[in-house]
Amino acid sequence: MNNQIKITIFGLGFVGLTTAVGFAKKGFQTYGYEILPQKVEQLQNAKIPFYEEGLQEAFNEVYKQTLFITNDILQALKDSDVIFYCIGTPMGEDGSADLSYILQALEQTAKNIHLCKKQPILVIKSTVPPSSCNECFVPFLNNKLGIKTNQDSDSLVFLVNNPEFLREGSAYKDFMHPDRIVIGTSNAKEIEKIKQIYTPFNAPIFFSTLNTAEFIKYLSNTMLAVNISFANEMSMIAQNIGDIDIKKSFEILHQDKRFYGNPAGIASYIYPGLGFGGYCLPKDTLALHKKAKEKSFNARMLQSALKINDDILEFYIQKITSEVSKDSKLCILGLSFKPNSDDVRDSKSATLIKKLIQAGYNNITAYDPMAIEVFKNTYNLNINYAQTLQEAIKDSVIIIATAWEEFKEISNQNNSIYNLRFM
Ligand SMILES: NC(=O)c1ccc[n+]([C@@H]2O[C@H](COP(=O)([O-])OP(=O)(O)OC[C@H]3O[C@@H](n4cnc5c(N)ncnc54)[C@H](O)[C@@H]3O)[C@@H](O)[C@H]2O)c1
Repeated sequence: MNNQIKITIFGLGFVGLTTAVGFAKKGFQTYGYEILPQKVEQLQNAKIPFYEEGLQEAFNEVYKQTLFITNDILQALKDSDVIFYCIGTPMGEDGSADLSYILQALEQTAKNIHLCKKQPILVIKSTVPPSSCNECFVPFLNNKLGIKTNQDSDSLVFLVNNPEFLREGSAYKDFMHPDRIVIGTSNAKEIEKIKQIYTPFNAPIFFSTLNTAEFIKYLSNTMLAVNISFANEMSMIAQNIGDIDIKKSFEILHQDKRFYGNPAGIASYIYPGLGFGGYCLPKDTLALHKKAKEKSFNARMLQSALKINDDILEFYIQKITSEVSKDSKLCILGLSFKPNSDDVRDSKSATLIKKLIQAGYNNITAYDPMAIEVFKNTYNLNINYAQTLQEAIKDSVIIIATAWEEFKEISNQNNSIYNLRFM
């Protein structure tokens, strides 16, 4: 048995049962607790209610050794150190996540908290929208249930968020071999215990704020959703234009070497910044949108992509104008549309500078390792150009507009800069 840590899992669906078997397999004493009597009965007869490769076999190995299944909450919580909530968060009537089942489970836990070990860790593994822990579960425990949560050392319990990234179809394998483990906490105290239970999985463990951990799960799922809809919109465009072999087109798209490698090059495109510029992406996205329209198809994702590309710049202009006084010296780092290039066509830096001038900033200095001359000649802007990086940033509010490698150190050293390329 792995240490003396006892783990309780609330909810034995795809995520909960896999989690329970996974921890039991790593030697932790694990109690799976489920409210549906027929599910409990089935599991107590050592029969898994759904198919997941390898799960039944692993279950058989650990059942009644390190894994116990119960619908008796007292037995489930007695001497528990870490309690996982793997309960459904279905779509509510208005489309919001319905958190009521988790609240019920927290209430059940609170009523029996005296049974648990001192300061147990409550782990929300269900997918919950960013801010749910901070704005819903922690206040619910503190104010409604009177369970002091996430408040220094005299807390009765600590609540953390630990999103699950397993995929149905390979749930057990994914759980046993995770590519990353994310733990959102607001308190350093619980970190050691969580580290202890996840160390046997040999995966990088990332600690973050509660909101960040919750957000990461949605970042991952919505990225997938957006990509699928993108592919479908492209297929509809192609079908409207006609004589396009869609299957072949996608197969050839997947040959792009940016999809391969670790990290795959495509990752550098899925990064927040100032928007896309340059000669190709803006004009080609617009041209395909126009062509689709001509063929009676409104390509809304392409249109939104272009709109968001404008909005992000506006967003930062508003942020800067609300935070930086007009008489400040502004320094714009990066003039080319991307690093390692002196191409300044449709450079976001040019639009940014124009908008800052319009907003009333008249002390702007710009610097770029390669593109100063061409930028000067292309855009006739009334700003200063620095010869060196050091000269540029002196006494300035720094705005990083292109992700040049040589700006990385400045962004690491300085918290007060506007790093609009999030390197
Ligand atoms: N299915 C996936 O691939 C997947 C992957 C990652 C994350 N998630 C998220 O994990 C959560 C669980 O998903 P799932 O697919 O395992 O759901 P599920 O519906 O299969 O399982 C949830 C289980 O919780 C039980 N339950 C409900 N209230 C309970 C309570 N108070 N006490 C004990 N048990 C209770 C239900 O009876 C059910 O068996 C969701 O938030 C989901 O979005 C799912």
